[in-house]
Amino acid sequence: QLEIYGGGLRGHVPALPMTFDEMERRAQSALPPSIWSYVAGGAGDERTQRANADAFGGWGLVPRMMVGATSRDLTVEMFGMTLPTPLFLCPVGVIGLCAQDGHGDLATARAAARTGVPMVASTLTVDPMEDLAAALGDTPGLFQLYTPNDRELAESLVRRAEKAGYRAIVVTLDTWVTGWRPRDLSTANFPQLRGNCIANYTSDPVFRSHLNATPEDDLAAATGYWAGVFGHAFTWDDLDWLRGLTDLPIVLKGICHPDDARRALDAGADGIYVSTHGGRQANGGLSSLEMLPDVVDAVDGRAPVLFDSGVRSGTDAVLALAMGATAVGVGRPYAYGLALGGEDGIVHVLRSFLAEADLLMAVDGYPSLASLDRSALRPTVRGP
Ligand code: FNR
Repeated sequence: QLEIYGGGLRGHVPALPMTFDEMERRAQSALPPSIWSYVAGGAGDERTQRANADAFGGWGLVPRMMVGATSRDLTVEMFGMTLPTPLFLCPVGVIGLCAQDGHGDLATARAAARTGVPMVASTLTVDPMEDLAAALGDTPGLFQLYTPNDRELAESLVRRAEKAGYRAIVVTLDTWVTGWRPRDLSTANFPQLRGNCIANYTSDPVFRSHLNATPEDDLAAATGYWAGVFGHAFTWDDLDWLRGLTDLPIVLKGICHPDDARRALDAGADGIYVSTHGGRQANGGLSSLEMLPDVVDAVDGRAPVLFDSGVRSGTDAVLALAMGATAVGVGRPYAYGLALGGEDGIVHVLRSFLAEADLLMAVDGYPSLASLDRSALRPTVRGP
């Protein structure tokens, strides 16, 4: 904040937008139309996508005065890591294509390294996971696994993630089949089918051993093979299998029902990740925020609860934390930051979110994440 106002004294106005809406508007002009619709779009009439963001308007933080919240502690402990802030970068498969040079995954990893905000690296990236891990440096990376329906290949991906130094496996449960996405359907566009974003497969020794020609010689055949193995409906049996395979913490992304959360922890999961995939998969109508409290209660402090979908500002992040999330994922906002300003654009989004969250906690008298809980929240006039 002081940096920006100080710059103003010297005649510098920020080149990048300060609000999500402006960011989204400008990203639409900056991105090729097919990539824009892929990133911005959601399932069905996108009511879940809208509900995710709107849900935050149903809650407000009650200010506490005379607390002397002159410094704030935003650190979080999770899976044996001490993180400087409670934000993380969501896995965004097609993020690579949002950068002008087509290497947005690397830009994301570098932005993570600059801010200390962990990156959850998608299975579907333009650059392979080993390159992203190297760019992350000391900042933790978590590997998001879309389990293929070939266990040998799945094991290979997990082993590579372990070797590359990822700190957890985040299994996405809700995307073994792609949701009904009218925007992509009307442009007949699914980037992965053009061979984009499948580097983790084309670089994989097991995947390559199943091909008749190398992906470098015949990308169409490799992509066709990929389309056949991608998308396994992960079940409780698979969780047992994965638990037996790796010692890395396992986080289950897409858990929204308290019974599923309880059962997952009983079955050996180490973290629960409440997400509606940004409204891209099911257009069921309920927002992630509405489902968060029940899951937090079911987890009852046994494990971290990660959260995403609809977070558009530092204020939203604080509300989700007060609702019981351990850490909050930034999704589309950083994709737009990347589209507008590359690596610097992502850093701009993260720093803006963090500054806004920190100032809100300062002004409203919540000096630490521990001091923020549901007792700090009230429904707004609009109501949840
Ligand atoms: C995603 N998301 C996602 N999730 C995942 O587990 N693996 C993936 O590869 C992707 N890919 C992906 C691509 C794009 C373009 C978007 C926008 C999202 C979902 C992502 O991790 C997160 O759940 C949502 O982005 C959160 O919602 P908001 O905040 O973007 O609305």
